[in-house]
Amino acid sequence: MLPRRTPLLPRLYTFRKRTKFSTMAGNAQKFGLEAQVKRNPHPDFKSVESSRPPFDEGTSFSYTKTIKPDWVPGSGANNDDWKTHKTVEIDPYGEGRKPVDNYKLLISGIIPRPIGFVSTVSLDGLSTNLGPFSYTALVNHDPPIFCIGFSGGVDNPKDTCRNILEAKECTINVISEFFQEAANYTSINAPHGVSEWALSGLTPAKSTKVRPDRVAESVFSVEAVYRAHHEWVSPGSGKGSGVLVILEGINFHVREDALNEEGNIIDPAVLKPVSRLGGISYGRTTSGFELPRPEFKKEVEKEGVEGLVKPKAEGQTEDGMCFERTNKINSGDLEYYHTGFIQQSQMPIITLGLGLGMICIDIYGVGPQQSIINGRTNESSKGGGGPFDP
Ligand SMILES: Cc1cc2nc3c(=O)[nH]c(=O)nc-3n(C[C@H](O)[C@H](O)[C@H](O)COP(=O)(O)O)c2cc1C
Repeated sequence: MLPRRTPLLPRLYTFRKRTKFSTMAGNAQKFGLEAQVKRNPHPDFKSVESSRPPFDEGTSFSYTKTIKPDWVPGSGANNDDWKTHKTVEIDPYGEGRKPVDNYKLLISGIIPRPIGFVSTVSLDGLSTNLGPFSYTALVNHDPPIFCIGFSGGVDNPKDTCRNILEAKECTINVISEFFQEAANYTSINAPHGVSEWALSGLTPAKSTKVRPDRVAESVFSVEAVYRAHHEWVSPGSGKGSGVLVILEGINFHVREDALNEEGNIIDPAVLKPVSRLGGISYGRTTSGFELPRPEFKKEVEKEGVEGLVKPKAEGQTEDGMCFERTNKINSGDLEYYHTGFIQQSQMPIITLGLGLGMICIDIYGVGPQQSIINGRTNESSKGGGGPFDP
């Protein structure tokens, strides 16, 4: 059995009581943190921008071959360049290393990240909020489950986080190239009560099943309701440093020209999704390649593949990290495991979350989901997977 942590309701109650009095201090802290990050590498941004070629609006999504269409099983990478470089090992909590260093490292290394463009309404219904969040991930489809990571603990929540925890709903919208500047502008550190909708000039469209509007410009929007949350605590300061919110999508809106006839595929050439890279950089998705999923039964019949079917690769250690990590989970040291790998970035949540059976939900006891939770001890995590693996 994994350890059960503080139950959900008392944690939420604490949240409500404390945040009432923390708005002003919270805003001051948020503005201060941004100065610490120094994410803009160009003191005169406009002059750097003017030296660059114009945005190529004519580029539309297209497919290429893969680098090596004749790749064969067991042959590894397409070139040996990686062998010529050394690796630098970094302890996230090593001497002199600050959380902001991990932040900058992670957001520049775990890329591209999808951006959840999140619309919320305050509990009293008096103010609306819209902001981009790239610690956003789709982690399940049946039911549709999304994770969003917010910087700052429950004592110092971003308005979007506070609204979701209190009002229990939001819309998650995909950002397309044709409104990227307006979407970026909504990340402005406006005080609580100031709506980013008017500041950005984006268009609110009524949602059907939740109160927050969806972004009318978005090609794809999801109406979502709160399911669980967890506050991450910094091992350095001992203070709440981030909140993971788990949401269930209950209604979808897709622009007609982006959707196929069966209503199940969105065309990337219409969606033109904008992703988040490090610093102040964004990414476009203008090119793709296709690779069929290998099927074990068919693959082992191919020449040379049968000899590759082994319990481990040549030269792998007997007592490496994997063994140690499994022990940690089995012995119930779950908080440390999460703190080290999931708190500071959203991508580890996807990888570890799915690989180990979405263990992060377990601590909060969201009922039926617990059956898939217990990671390596559970049937569902033994590698078979469902028919619709991502
Ligand atoms: C592209 C982009 C992605 C961002 N991702 C996140 C994120 O994942 N988590 C977060 O806490 N802040 C993120 N931010 C910063 C928030 O958008 C910003 O703090 C915003 O002011 C929050 O608004 P709110 O306080 O009204 O919720 C991001 C900003 C940008 C521009």
